[in-house]
Amino acid sequence: MSLDRPAEHRPYTLVAELTYRCPLRCFYCSNPVDYARHGEELDSATWRRLLREAEALGIVQVNLTGGEPLVREDLEPLIEEARRLDLYVNLITSGIPLTRERLARFRALGLDSVQLSIQDVAAPGSDRVAGLRSFERKLEVARWIKELGFPLTMNTVLHRDNLDHVGEIVALAERLSADRLELANTQYLGWALLNRKALLPSRDQLDRARAVAAEARQCLRGRMEVLFVLPDYYTDYPKACMDGWGRRFLLIAPDGRVLPCHAAHRLPGLEFERAGCRPLAEIWWDSPGLNAFRGEAWMPEPCRSCDRRTIDFGGCRCQAYFLTGDAVATDPVCRLAPRHDLVEAARAEPRTPGAYVYRAPGSRRSAARRGAVRQRLPAPADQGHGGLEVREQW
Ligand code: SF4
Ligand code: FES
Repeated sequence: MSLDRPAEHRPYTLVAELTYRCPLRCFYCSNPVDYARHGEELDSATWRRLLREAEALGIVQVNLTGGEPLVREDLEPLIEEARRLDLYVNLITSGIPLTRERLARFRALGLDSVQLSIQDVAAPGSDRVAGLRSFERKLEVARWIKELGFPLTMNTVLHRDNLDHVGEIVALAERLSADRLELANTQYLGWALLNRKALLPSRDQLDRARAVAAEARQCLRGRMEVLFVLPDYYTDYPKACMDGWGRRFLLIAPDGRVLPCHAAHRLPGLEFERAGCRPLAEIWWDSPGLNAFRGEAWMPEPCRSCDRRTIDFGGCRCQAYFLTGDAVATDPVCRLAPRHDLVEAARAEPRTPGAYVYRAPGSRRSAARRGAVRQRLPAPADQGHGGLEVREQW
């Protein structure tokens, strides 16, 4: 086992992707486009053991997420075990399916907080994103969350169709007595990359939304925290994706692969181990995949000699791969990147508003081919759960 265990690579948060199953079909879902090929799920006893191993490794918070974690019938024993280990337990959910009785059970078992996704300010827009009539139910779930005394974070993923509603989204979060509103601009990976031409906003839209969110943040200080996760494609530099590769976040996929982020298993040539084959601590420190982009030795120029390399860690490896075909390349979002032209070209592309490829079983290619999942929907009228962990925001 490696003796080199720098403190900056001690993980704090376990992202427990319990399942890829989900009743919603959001077209920017952060689950891999080939999720149906990874349908296997760890059993409850293995998850409880992994919680113990994660705590021993230094983890202090566990995010129970998916897919939709509520579809697992064993959430109760997992919450109970995590609380017994004194971990902070956060449930990230669409709210579908949930009953008030089950939520009350979670409360009694010690669940600490709930992040609820609401896709837009009214049913037409929210349900169109979800591919399911779900908006009214989500409002009801938000009320239960508050009635039962949980801190509520409302998650809304922002894109071309709802960026002009940010003021109303803030008002909705206030009405629901949310403690925190997370406005996360879409990150263009997986399903969202497939839908980029429909989802990518204009710079004017982003600027207006950002100003509205900044004012709300100021006005609501002390009552509700408003986070605006900075958008890719319109920034000069990339975000520190996942706070750096294999630094703070340890993600376990439904089938047990131990990853630095939700998309890394799609990068060719990297070897990620399955939890359970050997202790989690050994995997965290020694797995070739988790070590592939730690530190700076892997960086090409211009990152290698750039002052920002300790701030953004060279950006997102998955974005670099999906845009350039090379996971080692400088993230093309960076204005200094040799392939920044790819992002400039995407910004200049003609948009295809309303033409979405919904999340559905099958590969990217087969999903795009199947007429049944490509639907042209009406333009937004009056109108995820957010999956990514991106920490750069204000
Ligand atoms: Fe970040 Fe690399 Fe761009 Fe510097 S050159 S800002 S380290 S992505
Ligand atoms: Fe994998 Fe950014 S999503 S490194």
